[in-house]
Amino acid sequence: MLATLNPAGMDIERYRELGIDEGFAAKQRAVLDAFTRMGIAPTCTCTPYLCGNLPRLGEHLAWSESSAVCFANSVLGARSNREGGPSALAAALTGRTPEYGLHLEAGRCPEVAVELEAELDDESDFGALGALVGERIGPRRPLLRLRDASAGRAGIDALKSLAASLATYGGTAIFALEGVTPERFAAPAERLVLGADELAAARARLDSPAASVDFVSLGCPHLSLDELRRIVALLAGKRVVLETWLHLARPLKTVADGLGWSAALEASGARLACDTCMVVAPIRGRFRGLATSSAKAAYYARAKHGLPVLLRSLEECVRLALGEARP
Ligand code: F3S
Repeated sequence: MLATLNPAGMDIERYRELGIDEGFAAKQRAVLDAFTRMGIAPTCTCTPYLCGNLPRLGEHLAWSESSAVCFANSVLGARSNREGGPSALAAALTGRTPEYGLHLEAGRCPEVAVELEAELDDESDFGALGALVGERIGPRRPLLRLRDASAGRAGIDALKSLAASLATYGGTAIFALEGVTPERFAAPAERLVLGADELAAARARLDSPAASVDFVSLGCPHLSLDELRRIVALLAGKRVVLETWLHLARPLKTVADGLGWSAALEASGARLACDTCMVVAPIRGRFRGLATSSAKAAYYARAKHGLPVLLRSLEECVRLALGEARP
């Protein structure tokens, strides 16, 4: 049985460049050493499914990262409740998890059919949809119906953004997306129709008024290789003028190293911050405002760090980082 670890509070190798002090680093290393001695792979990522821990349809898990739980249940058709750290650790040590909730058929059936009468273009739009649906139906399980073009844009990166956002704003651990997710369910009786105005208003609520941005963070959940490829192309031959952190799992950075992407990104002045993210790293008080493509990061940047936030597409975030666009 494979057990992998959630992000740490710092890049294990380059924490000094991110401004993390030695005292914090020593405690983080002690925690990571303890997990490693228990046989848990210190992948330090919220996207284990992108780097080796990819469950199959119907497999039972005990995961604790809410975005990964929602992705595993919804996109992969695996089965996990939202575990806390201690119960996930207990499952890792024993190979057992209680059989209730999302492990059972009855606990997975959608409760509200949600029809969206608006188009979704990029990952930030899917995140805004997750925030809107989460705000409207809370932890109840949605069956989402999108227009054909939007459903066609529901690739892995859009789906990880949607899963993270639904889990954050609604506390839900599963959604079904008609025509995309692998399980088939009966349509629920309750129906909610959301229009373009409601989506636009939800998206506007994710922005802080008059936010002044000096920090750009991408990779919540951690970047996929394809997202990294897009960023490499956007930054090629240019220099960022804002502090820019790109969060990804270390195993993917190894691939990026081999492709020459890491060197290209660092030449642009962007920082590759593995093992961690701007939510779990101790950054409170260091920045005035954040631009991100993640609705989940927008929520926690405000709630945890008191940071004003702008939610923009990945491409717009890179343009802000380069000084080619204004907030
Ligand atoms: Fe991952 Fe940190 Fe976001 S753990 S889901 S990048 S808040």
